[in-house]
Amino acid sequence: MGVIRTAKDLEGMRRSGRIAARVRDAVLSACVPGVALRDLEQLADELIRREGAESAFKGYQGYPAVICLSLNDEVVHGIPDGRRIQPGDVVSLDVGVRYEGWVGDCAWTVLVGVADPEVRRLAAAGEEALRAGIAAAREGRFVSDISHAIQTVVERHGFSVVRQFVGHGIGRRMHEEPQVPNFVASDAPRIRLKAGMALAIEPMVNLGTHEVRVEPDGWTVRTADGKPSVHFEHTLVVGEGEAEVLTI
Ligand code: MF3
Ligand code: CO
Repeated sequence: MGVIRTAKDLEGMRRSGRIAARVRDAVLSACVPGVALRDLEQLADELIRREGAESAFKGYQGYPAVICLSLNDEVVHGIPDGRRIQPGDVVSLDVGVRYEGWVGDCAWTVLVGVADPEVRRLAAAGEEALRAGIAAAREGRFVSDISHAIQTVVERHGFSVVRQFVGHGIGRRMHEEPQVPNFVASDAPRIRLKAGMALAIEPMVNLGTHEVRVEPDGWTVRTADGKPSVHFEHTLVVGEGEAEVLTI
């Protein structure tokens, strides 16, 4: 389970990863008070086109936008609309692009003038969890070692990991085998990691309960308790030593 990429495949994946990262960074820089989510969608659309790429999200199972923007208690898959970013907002941006047939997928959360120390700790824990997951992604270990590393960091800080949505293998399609959960289930399969496997690792970390609900729009995922959530994602390739992160 999990395809081993050739050197040539990896060249393609490096290119799509770098494009996703550039678009992410440009849109994150534009996340300031007063800007409408729809304007950020427009910006992403232009940047992705200018790169000669296309959104991996738009049209995916009917998803209507090129990026996802999830505010505050929205966990993932928020659809950009006319709302404007306000001081104090927790903004999660998810960008996926396809370039020459290869998909790169990444996400990051920015705090726009958030003073609340607990929310700042939440974001720091989410980043730390992603780093721990990446560090655990090595040839010879198991997918569940990534899950365990992420869950341990998050729960040590007193937060919770979303269970209903998971990371994934990635390549010519956005979602490939294996699934990469951010928690260890009692029946977690033992899938061995091998050099050349490409994964998207993406902890979704909630301040309160891990439980989430999908809105009637069929996409927007919210925390069940209305407390904030953060999301950090990189696409990487497993190696014998440290993984190669493609979305930087
Ligand atoms: N990074 C997300 C994922 O891996 C983005 C999917 S948004 C969708 O599922 F609209 F394309 F579904
Ligand atoms: Co993803």
